[in-house]
Amino acid sequence: MKFFIDTANIAQIEEAVALGILDGVTTNPSLMAKEGIKGKSAVLSHYRKICDLVDGDVSAEVISTDFEGMIDEAEELIDIADNIVVKIPMIKEGVKAISHLSSRGIRTNCTLVFSAGQALLAAKAGATYVSPFIGRIDDVTWDGLDLINQIVEIYANYGFETEILAASIRNPLHITKCAELGADVVTCPLSAFLGLLKHPLTDIGLAKFLEDAKKTA
Ligand code: G3P
Repeated sequence: MKFFIDTANIAQIEEAVALGILDGVTTNPSLMAKEGIKGKSAVLSHYRKICDLVDGDVSAEVISTDFEGMIDEAEELIDIADNIVVKIPMIKEGVKAISHLSSRGIRTNCTLVFSAGQALLAAKAGATYVSPFIGRIDDVTWDGLDLINQIVEIYANYGFETEILAASIRNPLHITKCAELGADVVTCPLSAFLGLLKHPLTDIGLAKFLEDAKKTA
């Protein structure tokens, strides 16, 4: 399973890289705005900075909602670095754009996916990644993990190569459940990865070992 960090915050990306567990980065316009990035050239140069920091894929999202606009943005984004993946929303024009880019060998991440039907369309269009937003489904009292299960089954039935990138992950349990279900990638804030570390028996065990070590000093 690949671990992507879902942020545009450089310090958090550096911390995840230093942990040695990071396979890539996903961003979106909200995450860029959160970092105070303003203006097209600032956005592009921030993506460049992120791409320089990580070996793996970096998803950069288009903001156009028409086919031509999405393709123009995709051209600019892929010029930034080889590890850019163009993130495109699951709308009609987006499906067209994914299909066009995929036929040219340009990698895409289909975002804002909330149903199995949308995930099927993304795979048919040739998306490299599909991003089901499990936390936001949980927020409206449906079960986001059920959607991961459905997509895993559908893609396996037909051998689709689109990777399931579970997004909108809020906690460590989401990560382990996605791993059980067979999602290819999880993308989440650094806090969710750090949450995987925690177990009270680890803390109690370490305290005891350190105490006993004093007896052998
Ligand atoms: O990758 C999509 C993700 O950023 C959405 O997360 O927490 O805003 O639902 P969230």
